[in-house]
Amino acid sequence: RDELLFSYKGILYPAAVCNPEVFKALESFEARSDDVILAGYPKSGTNWLSQIITDLITISQKKTPGRESSVNAEEEFPYLEIGDAEKYEILLLIRNPKDLATSFYHFSNGLATLPSYETWDDFFTDFMTKKMAWGCYFEYLSEWNKYADQENIMTITYEEVKENPALAVKNIAMFFGIPLTEEELQLVVERSSFQSMKKNSEKTHGVFGNILFRKGCVSDWKNLFSEDQNEKMDKAFEERVAGTKLGKKLKYDLYCK
Ligand code: A3P
Repeated sequence: RDELLFSYKGILYPAAVCNPEVFKALESFEARSDDVILAGYPKSGTNWLSQIITDLITISQKKTPGRESSVNAEEEFPYLEIGDAEKYEILLLIRNPKDLATSFYHFSNGLATLPSYETWDDFFTDFMTKKMAWGCYFEYLSEWNKYADQENIMTITYEEVKENPALAVKNIAMFFGIPLTEEELQLVVERSSFQSMKKNSEKTHGVFGNILFRKGCVSDWKNLFSEDQNEKMDKAFEERVAGTKLGKKLKYDLYCK
């Protein structure tokens, strides 16, 4: 387990996925004024939202002659200081912690580069005691709470995109200042549906396709959590996140009870 992870500024990262060299380079990262950033803890649906944003950018670029189109719209950063965050627009994606943990458990066991867990109970213990790759989700939420009011940050939940994808895509496009026709909107929604993304996953994500596009639903946690684990998670959420802005956005009572 220890061989797979390394620590950077007190947070664990998987060495095979996050190259330590990249962290060094990120210290001098300079954003451009038209950069957009998607921020999400692992398993919150980042590949999904990335598909939506990439399509929106492509639509926007087609309508703006001369706009750079060679930029890789999917550059991934394991870590970024928020210091000069007002320079770019940030879409912050969050997901209810029970489904997120469930997804993370299956992902950890599906990916050889992450520590695997013999039982769900072992994973749950690590998840609740901060021993996770990419750090503790509750701490992640606490940290982002400090910025959630900034005008250049839009927060969206996995559950709200699932509930009404067209509205979510419309709001994201509006936030990034990308006008959309009804037809374009429908196209983005169609291309980002779980079925389409799963169908294309071998092309877009190779062998990881099957692991990444697993179930794509809300409430799968009910298949894993014991009564005791439910109580522990409810208590931790209540104590650490419930009263905060992001905590309220997550609609815990609706999705986690
Ligand atoms: P599950 O494991 O619960 O199925 P990430 O991309 O951040 O790693 O998140 C992966 C999670 O997002 C997985 O959750 C995956 O199925 C889900 N997901 C990916 N694409 C999706 C889509 N188009 N619609 C709904 N969920 C999606």
